[in-house]
Amino acid sequence: MNPGKVATIKAMKGRERIAALTVYDFALAKILENSGIPLLLVGDSVGMVILGYPDTTHVTMAEMEHHIRAVARAKPDALLAADLPFGSCATPALAVENAQRLVAAGAEAVKAEGGRKLLPQVQAIIRAGIPLLGHLGMLPQNVIAEGGYHIKGKSVDERAALLDDAVALEQAGAFGIVLELVTPPVAREITARITIPTIGIGAGPDCDGEILVTTDLLGTSPGFIPRHVKNPGHFAEQMRAAVVEWKDSVVHPKRS
Ligand code: KIV
Repeated sequence: MNPGKVATIKAMKGRERIAALTVYDFALAKILENSGIPLLLVGDSVGMVILGYPDTTHVTMAEMEHHIRAVARAKPDALLAADLPFGSCATPALAVENAQRLVAAGAEAVKAEGGRKLLPQVQAIIRAGIPLLGHLGMLPQNVIAEGGYHIKGKSVDERAALLDDAVALEQAGAFGIVLELVTPPVAREITARITIPTIGIGAGPDCDGEILVTTDLLGTSPGFIPRHVKNPGHFAEQMRAAVVEWKDSVVHPKRS
C-alpha cells in the first residue's frame, strides 16, 4: 500500500488534470512506463478487450489476480488500482476478503461499481485500510440487468441520485470517483460538489480527469471503439500489416 500515491491523486483536484489508463499485462505496463500517467487501472474491461468475453460480468477474481500480478511485476510508478469484479462484493465481508486478494496480487487500491447501495461494502473496504476508487453512472457490471450501455443523468431523478451517490462515496472515504457515461452537465455538477477528484469516461470535459481503456486509445480493442475515444490509434492495422509483410517475405523469399 502506498498512501503517498493516493494523496497525490487527491491533491491533483483543482490543480492538474488527471490522465488515467487501463493496463492488463506486463508488456503494456512497460509501454506505459515513464508516460507520466499517475493512475493505472487493471480494469475488468480485461474481460472484453483481452479475454474475449462479451461483457465484464464473466470476469473472475482469479483472472483479475492473474492480470494484476503481471502488471505489478513491471513495478509501475503510477498508483495501481484494480477492479473488484462482478459478484465479488455481495456482502461487506466478501468485499473486504476480495479487496485483500487484489491487494495481495499487487493492487494498491481497488475500484468498486456502485453508490449508496454498495455503501456498507465501500465502508468496510476503507475501514480495512484499502484505498477505494468509486464508480458511478453507467456501471458495466449492470449491462445485462439494464439491457445495454445507457447514458446516465438525463432525468431529474437520475441527476439527484448520482449527486447523492457521489456525496455518499466521498463521505465514506473514497479517494476519487470514476464517472462513466454521465451527461456532461451532471458530471460538471458532481465535480463541483465534491472535494475528491472525478475521473470521467464518456462524461464530457469538466471532470477532474479522464480515463480510457488503453486498447481503445491504441485501436487494438477487438470489438468497436467507443465514440468518446476521439482520436484512436491504428495499431491493430499496423500490427496486421507487419504480420502480412513478414508472411509474404517467408512465402516469397527474395533470393539474391
Ligand atoms: O474496467 C474498466 O476498464 C473501467 C473503465 C472505467 C476504464 O472500469
